[in-house]
Amino acid sequence: MTRVFSGIQPSGELHLGNYLGAVRNWVAMQHETDAVFCVVDLHALTLPKPPGEVGRESLRLSQLLMATGLDPEVCILFVQSHVREHTECAWLMQCNVSFGELSRMVQFKDKSDQHEFVSGSLFTYPALQAADILLYDTNEVPVGEDQRQHIEITRDIAERFNGRFGETFVLPQAVIPPAGARVMDLQNPSNKMSKSLDSEKGTVNVLDDPKRIAKEIRSAVTDNDGAVRFDFAEKPGVSNLLSILAAATGGDPAALADDYDQYGQLKVDAADAVVALLEPIQARFAELEADPAETARLLKIGADKAREIASNTMTRAKENIGLLAD
Ligand code: TRP
Repeated sequence: MTRVFSGIQPSGELHLGNYLGAVRNWVAMQHETDAVFCVVDLHALTLPKPPGEVGRESLRLSQLLMATGLDPEVCILFVQSHVREHTECAWLMQCNVSFGELSRMVQFKDKSDQHEFVSGSLFTYPALQAADILLYDTNEVPVGEDQRQHIEITRDIAERFNGRFGETFVLPQAVIPPAGARVMDLQNPSNKMSKSLDSEKGTVNVLDDPKRIAKEIRSAVTDNDGAVRFDFAEKPGVSNLLSILAAATGGDPAALADDYDQYGQLKVDAADAVVALLEPIQARFAELEADPAETARLLKIGADKAREIASNTMTRAKENIGLLAD
């Protein structure tokens, strides 16, 4: 069966774009593939964090992922730092990637421009990501377009390692959802919905109060020509509402456009559909939140399953390098 691996950082909330664009597909994939999902808490540490924050957010995100339907009995769901092999393998990755390759990473350039403290780990971030992926003999990595470069460097590292030490790692492939599956910011529909603070009004979080969600969708930016048409280039705001409504109800955005002759009703229907979609997730989240010990138990099952695979891969990698056996 195809092994799928993806990772998600425990920073901020899960927003509608993360959910509709990624996590909801993961929920479907867990039944069709051999799926491994990881809350990448060590990646979150590449930017300075106050004590306690990453742990709290990892718990919350894990509960949120379970609430959306990731089932720890069906897939492997775990927290990165619970499986030591990730940091161990990251070192081997660092030894097989060049300074030049890491210097060409767009995400590093962006992030290092935005922050005053630029850690060494921000620079070597892709090596840890490569470790995440390669430890599980991953065939496919479902990620957004912004991660394509990180998957390419992972393949490059795997190929170099295999060339130097013999067949060790499986070469993974990025699986990127079509551009139409993207949810855009409600206030700036030319930008992707994101968790950045300056777009708070344009972002819907999965755990937001339903009243707030409805209000935000109803006050989404559209345009002045009044025609309901699915055309992201000319009408990004209206198209975003159509694609959100379509994603929430299982319809087709272009076909849905025919049902509307004004923006008001489209907004009301999109708002209702999103609230209805998120309500059961919020209810399941509340149950999990009330019982952190149960979440811990489920995460331990995930970490145990993950470790079994990862430790085999590490043994193989160390043997192939020819490190002295312990
Ligand atoms: N870098 C990814 C992001 O920012 C998160 C990530 C870490 C990841 N490890 C991964 C994604 C492994 C896919 C596979 O979104």
